[in-house]
Amino acid sequence: VGLGYWGPNLARNFQTSADFDLVGLCDQDPRRVERAGAPYPSATQTTDIAELLEKATPDLVAIATPVASHVPLSKAALEFGAHVLCEKPIARSVREAEELLALARKQRLHLFVDHPFKYTGAVRVVQQLYATGALGNLFYIDSVRINLGLFQPDVDVTWDLAPHDLSILSYVLGGKNVTHVRATGSTHNPHGFIDVAYVDLEYKGGLTAHLHLSWLSPVKVRRMIFSGSRSSCIYDDVEASEKVRIYDHGVSFEVDDVEQRRQVLVSYRRGEMRAPAVDLREALAAELTQIAAHIRGAPSGASLGDEGLEIVRILAACETSLAKDGARVAL
Ligand SMILES: NC(=O)c1ccc[n+]([C@@H]2O[C@H](COP(=O)([O-])OP(=O)(O)OC[C@H]3O[C@@H](n4cnc5c(N)ncnc54)[C@H](O)[C@@H]3O)[C@@H](O)[C@H]2O)c1
Repeated sequence: VGLGYWGPNLARNFQTSADFDLVGLCDQDPRRVERAGAPYPSATQTTDIAELLEKATPDLVAIATPVASHVPLSKAALEFGAHVLCEKPIARSVREAEELLALARKQRLHLFVDHPFKYTGAVRVVQQLYATGALGNLFYIDSVRINLGLFQPDVDVTWDLAPHDLSILSYVLGGKNVTHVRATGSTHNPHGFIDVAYVDLEYKGGLTAHLHLSWLSPVKVRRMIFSGSRSSCIYDDVEASEKVRIYDHGVSFEVDDVEQRRQVLVSYRRGEMRAPAVDLREALAAELTQIAAHIRGAPSGASLGDEGLEIVRILAACETSLAKDGARVAL
């Protein structure tokens, strides 16, 4: 449901998946149904979700519409009896997200949330680097996610782009909790939505992450720096092949107490850089495999509603901080 920019990618992956058959397509705009539906003549095609459910009787419905409609459309699918794969962010408020999770539980159905980056080969490499201790203790994380557009009609840039960073960080850091946020931003469009934002996240244990989000950059940048005590890495999603570069560079600090004069000795290490081979297969295909496994009851890494809810909590805290000129907000 929703055949704008992202929906057709979902449709194509359901169609080519060995686990699913694409049984129906829906968009409220008939021209989009016609255009996106052309390659799938045997699938039910409609402008109304009620007709889609009745005619196509799907086991799972994927919702790729603007954020404000995620909750009503997901509810309609769950009440019909279908599992849901909802786009990020799953809801516009914590209360709505909680209601959706409660409905999925009541219906004994799965609510999945589409966080595709964690299924990319590059993010998996970064996760392994952290989990195996190759990065050592992380000092900080810095992320830049900026491009020109795509303006969303009903949310600001934080709600649109930060879910990617938050889901990547949750995956890489093994579910480490964000404890506080600060966010500032500015608006340069007539709708009044914040289109440039700077977000600081504090994690349990003192780790910090900084996110720079913008819809107004002349160039597309998708770069995350993970700075660690043993090594550091740069994940650049725009790079064609060397998406992860690992730097054996570091800095260590020693306190010298000789003659009771506390002196901090800083030593720098400049070693080699290497770029490991990264699986470049499309993330959505891997994601659908995990979702199918989860529905069949096998252990899976699929992102579920509680992960989506946690991200909505952080986004809501960012919104509070933005409204208070960057105040530090506890979660
Ligand atoms: N997971 C990702 O990597 C990723 C990437 C891009 C977008 N998204 C998400 O996908 C969603 C859609 O984004 P987009 O850029 O494709 O938007 P879009 O505006 O290009 O497309 C949205 C489509 O939904 C349709 N629509 C709206 N309300 C509807 C309704 N009630 N019933 C049926 N159709 C309806 C519109 O007609 C439109 O064709 C957003 O939530 C966005 O955050 C996710």
